[in-house]
Amino acid sequence: KSVSGLSYPGSDANSDYSFKGRSVVTLDDMPLGCIVELLDRASYISGHMRQVAHTCDGRVLATLFYEPSTRTRLSFETAMLRLGGQVIGFASAKEASASKGETVSDTLKTISQYADIATIRHPKEGAALVASQAADIPVINAGDGGHMHPTQTLADLETIRSRRGGFKGLTIGLCGDLTFGRTVHSLISTLCRFGDVNFVLISPEELRTPEYVLERIKASPSCSYLETDDLDQVIGDLDVLYMTRVQKERFFNEDDYLRLRDTYILDLDKLDKAKPDMAVLHPLPRVNEIEAGVDGDPRAAYFEQVRNGMLVRMALESALLGDALPGYEEGKEV
Ligand code: CP
Repeated sequence: KSVSGLSYPGSDANSDYSFKGRSVVTLDDMPLGCIVELLDRASYISGHMRQVAHTCDGRVLATLFYEPSTRTRLSFETAMLRLGGQVIGFASAKEASASKGETVSDTLKTISQYADIATIRHPKEGAALVASQAADIPVINAGDGGHMHPTQTLADLETIRSRRGGFKGLTIGLCGDLTFGRTVHSLISTLCRFGDVNFVLISPEELRTPEYVLERIKASPSCSYLETDDLDQVIGDLDVLYMTRVQKERFFNEDDYLRLRDTYILDLDKLDKAKPDMAVLHPLPRVNEIEAGVDGDPRAAYFEQVRNGMLVRMALESALLGDALPGYEEGKEV
């Protein structure tokens, strides 16, 4: 049991897992106790920003973004700056020697000479793993193609935990592009390990959840799922609604994208049918999936989720560098 009020299976609590010096490509190999520990650290940081302001003095973070980003890159950078460290990096492949043909491995061997920790976003699945294998410093996956986005998952978990008090027994709807949405794949995989979650997978036929993700739900005896294309029919059952953008950049065919992009639009009329305490999450950026009028509804949690993204990245960066948060004691009430 952690100070966050989350519990997890015993074998997942004990751990030889050490954060210091480790790369994080996925959360799948991180014990649940360690995931919860990061959420606890993020909660602590939230209330102690001034105390932690020199935790990473003298450290350098490299942000290697081969794909566009607003939240992930800037929150990783803000996280390091707020911990007292500094930041180098590039925001697109065009700015870097990748445009001249340099491999990810060579880039990471180079960056290892400059920085203490790196984060990488890349359009190809597996690029973060390749980067971590080439680097001499911890590497954090900031999204690899349609595969995984582990730090977004930490932000999502922290938002669900703070809104709903935990994960157990929740009915969580995931809506939109469930084929290419890597945040969905990461989140489902991790929640399945906590267990006792009912997933409602809401998508058009063409954007259904990949089989390998469904297999993870099937392998978790206390979890279940329902697939549907009808948001209106299920919204009243949900404790959490996780909206997603149709991922234009991963479509091969513009016509298909145009046909599918506005399948689901959450507006106040739809919200009328939802529970009064349902939490609406979205990893952002949004296009049309959530009308701006929803932002003022108390159920809208997506900008809180953005802030949590910065806090969990502060927790993760300091943990992987082995830099202790002043005043923080593991397991102590925050
Ligand atoms: N949630 C997320 O990954 O946003 P960005 O693409 O802006 O980083």
